[in-house]
Amino acid sequence: MPITALNPGQQKASGIASDGAKPAPKQLAMRYDARAKVTGTAKYAGEFRAPTDAVYAFVVQSTIPSGSIASIDQAAATKSSGVLAVITPFNAPKLPPANPQPPARRHITVLQEREIFYNGQPVAVVVARSLPEAIQAASLLRITYRQTAAKLRFRERLGEARPPKFPGREPAAQTRGDLAAAMSKGTVRVEQTYTTPYQHHNPMEPHATLAWWEGGKLNVYDSTQYIAGDCMTIARTLGIPTDNVHLECPYTGGGFGCKGSTWSHVILAAMAAKVVGKPVKLTLERPQMWGPVGGRPTTVQQIKLAATQDGKITGVQHDVIVHTSLMEDFLEPSADQTRMLYASEACATSHKMVDMNLGVATFMRAPGESTGTAALETAMDELALALKMDPVQLRLTNYAEKDPGSDKPWSSKHLRECYEQAGERFGWSKRNPQPASMREGNKLIGWGMATATYPANRSAAQALVRILTNGHAFVGCGSQDLGTGTYTIMAQTAGDTLGIDPRLVEAKLGDSTLPKAPASGGSQSAASICPAISAAAMQAKLKVAQLAINDPESPLHGAIVADISASDGRLFLSSSPGSSDSYADILSRNGGKPVEALGSTEPGEDSTAMSTHSFGAVFAEVAVDAETYMVEVRRIVATYDIGTLINDTTGINQLEGGIVWGVGFALHEESHLDETYGRYVNANLAEYHVPVNADIGKLDVTVLNIPDIKFNPLGARGIGEIGITGTAAAVGNAIFHATGKRIRNFPITLDKLMNA
Ligand code: MOS
Repeated sequence: MPITALNPGQQKASGIASDGAKPAPKQLAMRYDARAKVTGTAKYAGEFRAPTDAVYAFVVQSTIPSGSIASIDQAAATKSSGVLAVITPFNAPKLPPANPQPPARRHITVLQEREIFYNGQPVAVVVARSLPEAIQAASLLRITYRQTAAKLRFRERLGEARPPKFPGREPAAQTRGDLAAAMSKGTVRVEQTYTTPYQHHNPMEPHATLAWWEGGKLNVYDSTQYIAGDCMTIARTLGIPTDNVHLECPYTGGGFGCKGSTWSHVILAAMAAKVVGKPVKLTLERPQMWGPVGGRPTTVQQIKLAATQDGKITGVQHDVIVHTSLMEDFLEPSADQTRMLYASEACATSHKMVDMNLGVATFMRAPGESTGTAALETAMDELALALKMDPVQLRLTNYAEKDPGSDKPWSSKHLRECYEQAGERFGWSKRNPQPASMREGNKLIGWGMATATYPANRSAAQALVRILTNGHAFVGCGSQDLGTGTYTIMAQTAGDTLGIDPRLVEAKLGDSTLPKAPASGGSQSAASICPAISAAAMQAKLKVAQLAINDPESPLHGAIVADISASDGRLFLSSSPGSSDSYADILSRNGGKPVEALGSTEPGEDSTAMSTHSFGAVFAEVAVDAETYMVEVRRIVATYDIGTLINDTTGINQLEGGIVWGVGFALHEESHLDETYGRYVNANLAEYHVPVNADIGKLDVTVLNIPDIKFNPLGARGIGEIGITGTAAAVGNAIFHATGKRIRNFPITLDKLMNA
């Protein structure tokens, strides 16, 4: 994969004295966990064993969307082979009244109520010797319900949309400037409605929990994106101190947001373990991934754009309606990027929600920006067409030199270079702007583009770094690796700062006893934990340097700290590189014990004074069959401005994964809701379509690699989510260019193209 390295600082050694200029990180070429993954020694939550044999729990789900449970006859189930317990709202242990849980104002259904909020809600747990016995017994439960009318027809109830009860990361509605006046100045207008479907995350590894009690202490293996938050939610829900929960998750088999919070099954596993007095394993089956563990809300987005003849946008209006559950509000903030992406005189955005008898929606890869850019960047393409202007030129004409929403300066923004570099690699200048003008035999060829963007987030984090007597090192951090590369960048960052080959660094994460890290969500892990690791490594290195300075036998004896640098497992004098001493020798002469330090970092003081975002430009080529309307995505060329790329292998792979999801968003992904019974009818991976290799053509992903030092000392912004943004619109815009048909409701399937 070609990487464009434009990193200004390519120095190698990492000096103790830091002058603020960041040398390029010494990369770990192979994924840290590659061997464990390919040899199958990497263990996931459902694969662990407890100290004593575990029994199995199966979650029984409601078969109605709305009402209450009248009775449960469990006689036959209880007598069934191997059954240890049948737990229902009628006999479940009573939990303390709900506490505020992370994220705030959660409502998880854990058999404390008889009320039914959605079809698929957990209504009982059967615990048995084996999983087949638990499933068999579950089928013997006789549950009677009192049904009430369900709210399931979203499109028919848009008139009932209401503002969210609680604010999100930004206000739900915002107006800047005089919208009516600005709109009337624009003589070229676009006014359209775009829709996006229900989607469900479906990482390869379904949710799984293994729980057992030792007295008042709870041990849990859980597949999670947020060890510390999971512990906190479990503890608060069960009414025990957080320190009494020990949670481990060395590998997370994908998350994409659905493992960012704690769902019913985790609590139910712990509850079942208490009831039967044995370790309990609870793994969700694939169809159970539709409903009880979150999903992306469906959206209806109305966009109005007005521009003058020369392409200057005067007014923007973006009004979003999403669905929400009856249990709690979750807002997909699809209009947030509209506030910051382009300059305009006035901008009004709003979000409203419609109550539905469905499971709670949650963060799903690039919550807000994925659905929001699908709509906004399609509208921009429509505006370019109306103006007879090149789509890239339209975006450059309205380039935002500072954040128009907050009026703050960017920490760093190089979106212009992204358009330029990706456009060049794509060959955009050769595009004939006329729709349906490019043809190869039976194939209609189309080229489209869009802008990508996602906020750069960062939270407080802690990490431990230990220099070992053999000259190797250890780095520990209570973070998570979703397959994203956390292990790799942990080892790399520690090794880079210590001047120790990253291949000699052992990395440990996924354990609640390790120093605290934030959720692996919001694309923030690298930007949060790497500074903490770097700070810890710096301190550990200083401690060893001090030992050497005080050691008459060391060639560094009496040196000044500022003169000491590290490389290849040795400390040396910058002024006289021949004078050096290895970590191993220094430690063996000075007590023969490892030296360690804890690093603790948080966002910089000026983090609220600037606007921090990543950007990118995505170009797509599609070939559409003129008769069947089968769409083939031939190539995607994208360039991103994400600050420093910490690791080429894992970083580019992250961006590619996001793009693949963007293609799925454009063409495939959709959960089909049965609007009478409230179940998703395609709750399996055969009928819930995601892209396979054959659906993805050539990917050409590059990054500018320009450090954003104002955002964090490593200059790195997150990359987990930006890849999905913009991609859906780029593909849709290419389809329009190929066919002259504009599909405004995602996914763009053959039937919609055929009937357009
Ligand atoms: Mo991501 S949707 O913030 O896990």
